[in-house]
Amino acid sequence: MEFSLQQDASQLDTAASLILPLTLAQDGSTPITSDALKRADVLLNGAISHAIASGDLSGKFKVSQLFLNAGSGPDRILVIGTGTADKLNGRKYGQLVQSAWAKISTNPGAHVANLLTTADSQALDISSKVRLTVESMVQACYRFDQFKTDNKDDPTNNTQATTMALAAGTETQTQLEQSVATATAMDLCRDLGNLPGNVCTPNFLAEQGHKLAASSSKVTTQVLEEAEMETLGMHSLLSVGKGSAEPSKLIVINYQGGEESARPHVLVGKGITFDSGGISIKPGAAMDEMKYDMCGAASVIGAMQAVINMDLKANVVAIVASAENMPSSTASKPGDIYTTMSGKTVEVLNTDAEGRLVLCDALTYAERFNPKTVVDVATLTGACIIALGHHTSAVLSNDDQFAASIMTAGKQAFDQAWQLPMGDEYQEQLDSNFADLGNIGGRSAGTITAACFLSRFTQSYTWAHLDIAGTAWTSGAKKGSTGRCVPLLVQHLVNQV
Ligand code: BES
Ligand code: MN
Ligand code: ZN
Repeated sequence: MEFSLQQDASQLDTAASLILPLTLAQDGSTPITSDALKRADVLLNGAISHAIASGDLSGKFKVSQLFLNAGSGPDRILVIGTGTADKLNGRKYGQLVQSAWAKISTNPGAHVANLLTTADSQALDISSKVRLTVESMVQACYRFDQFKTDNKDDPTNNTQATTMALAAGTETQTQLEQSVATATAMDLCRDLGNLPGNVCTPNFLAEQGHKLAASSSKVTTQVLEEAEMETLGMHSLLSVGKGSAEPSKLIVINYQGGEESARPHVLVGKGITFDSGGISIKPGAAMDEMKYDMCGAASVIGAMQAVINMDLKANVVAIVASAENMPSSTASKPGDIYTTMSGKTVEVLNTDAEGRLVLCDALTYAERFNPKTVVDVATLTGACIIALGHHTSAVLSNDDQFAASIMTAGKQAFDQAWQLPMGDEYQEQLDSNFADLGNIGGRSAGTITAACFLSRFTQSYTWAHLDIAGTAWTSGAKKGSTGRCVPLLVQHLVNQV
């Protein structure tokens, strides 16, 4: 699907399908106020006012009516209620876009004019509406059916040829381009997440890095193999993959879009392509979902693709720490002690707390880029789901101002994150009798103690950690990767320019 911006008046006649919002006024009435609605009502010989008068159309949220038009103008006109302007927030706006699309997606025609961006909302400016329309549309069209042998039958699958014009002035063109880049990157992130663990291995993620390098002259990708990591002293990272036949990889993707000397913004992603727990093995229920344990890496790779497509004027480095966590006679065991690249020793008290073990060495490696900022992204703790559920990612940082800027980016991108505290008092929970620190901090404050572990390796730069354990994928009947937190990461990088 291709997106463009147009002024609303010109679109009525050329579109095959037209989507029009109908606002419910505060007094409960539904006046036809917009020029577009008036014009459509004329094209339909008064059918819209008739539908309102008869109560079929109320202006209430998501209540809609599809009009087929045999005369001149669009073949089909969908009028959809948006509710009152004070209630239409970002989440509801996204639902509105998806609901409208579901009504016409079996037969939208080659050109759709979407005027939902003209919906009355107190909370949303035009940029936000453009962003939400693009991202919700792309999400609505997302399919992951490459492993279904009968995947050609779904008529709503055929959206490649559809173009969608949004009603907005050209002043939002930059926002449109950013949104398209973000939505495309979310699709990549979703694909990488949804791919099974036997396909999406550390080597497969490394290939994604090489693909990005092949797509742009501003990108170079370097993949560190186990032998090189051994030489660098990354024994903590390497300990995680010891039980797996899949070799671990450290994937470094370097984007030079800014001044040569400008310090880069670094993104670090947890890329555990399957987390069985290792010798501290997980229970069987829903263990398949641990293929999603590389969603931090997928977000970071997605964000890099967006940065390339937006031609961002900044230097950005992505580091993906990738391994498969499996039990075997060669796997690391509870009680084993490893020396990290930083020189600090770690006692592995639970092999299922493996994310921090790969991230700590990647975070030490990040030092060599003299980074302006570092953000790591990880499906790190089940405790994060208990604390914040499935709607909000956790952010923890060694700099409250930086944490605030990450939360702001999340708000702007409708991809929210909330800060958890990380005071000294929590650090003691990581004390080990035999090494510099243990890799677990006990039952309480699991998300915080995981971040405390990482903080021991990030003292030389401004750093934030995002725990996306609750937000990266959905379970149950609609199981699938969400594409989060690509929007937050992209907005964070855009805000740095
Ligand atoms: N990848 C998991 C965290 C996770 C679990 C994310 C379930 C989403 C859903 C991580 O590697 C892990 O196993 N963490 C342990 C840490 C514990 C052993 C200290 C956890 O959260 O139970
Ligand atoms: Mn684990
Ligand atoms: Zn894990």
